[in-house]
Amino acid sequence: MNNQPWRFIVVQNRETILQLSECTHYTGIVAGAPRLIAIFLDNETSYNRTKDIEAVGASIQNMLLSCCELGLGGVWLGEILNQKDKVNSILECPSKLELMAVIAIGEPSPKERTSTRKPLSEIVYNEKYGQKWEE
Ligand SMILES: Cc1cc2nc3c(=O)[nH]c(=O)nc-3n(C[C@H](O)[C@H](O)[C@H](O)COP(=O)(O)O)c2cc1C
Repeated sequence: MNNQPWRFIVVQNRETILQLSECTHYTGIVAGAPRLIAIFLDNETSYNRTKDIEAVGASIQNMLLSCCELGLGGVWLGEILNQKDKVNSILECPSKLELMAVIAIGEPSPKERTSTRKPLSEIVYNEKYGQKWEE
């Protein structure tokens, strides 16, 4: 249907960024970023909640990949959803827009990546659920 249920608000105003930084435990990441993108699902455009949320997630992933390509750092912020009404109020959004995430974009940290991934044997099965996948 190509209904493109996502909506994006690009925030670069310092005062607004600081207000949004108070909506999450990750205050430092948000306050330290020169720009944010708030990503919403437009519930009036949405026709299948599961598929539309998947689509919005894909759009977020694509933006993060583009950040990487451009030499920028991007952080997907989900914890801020705990205060999504406050975010909507700061950004003057109608209630049909449901906050899905905020991405903080800036210079990438020079720090080594420390995150790990579960082994495939824990998350991939061979042919049927429960059958061991050999890596
Ligand atoms: C749905 C989702 C929500 C996330 N929310 C936060 C968040 O609120 N704060 C944060 O610092 N990182 C957040 N992240 C980033 C994850 O912490 C990060 O992707 C994970 O630790 C793995 O690190 P890596 O992507 O650098 O390998 C989120 C990631 C996803 C996919």
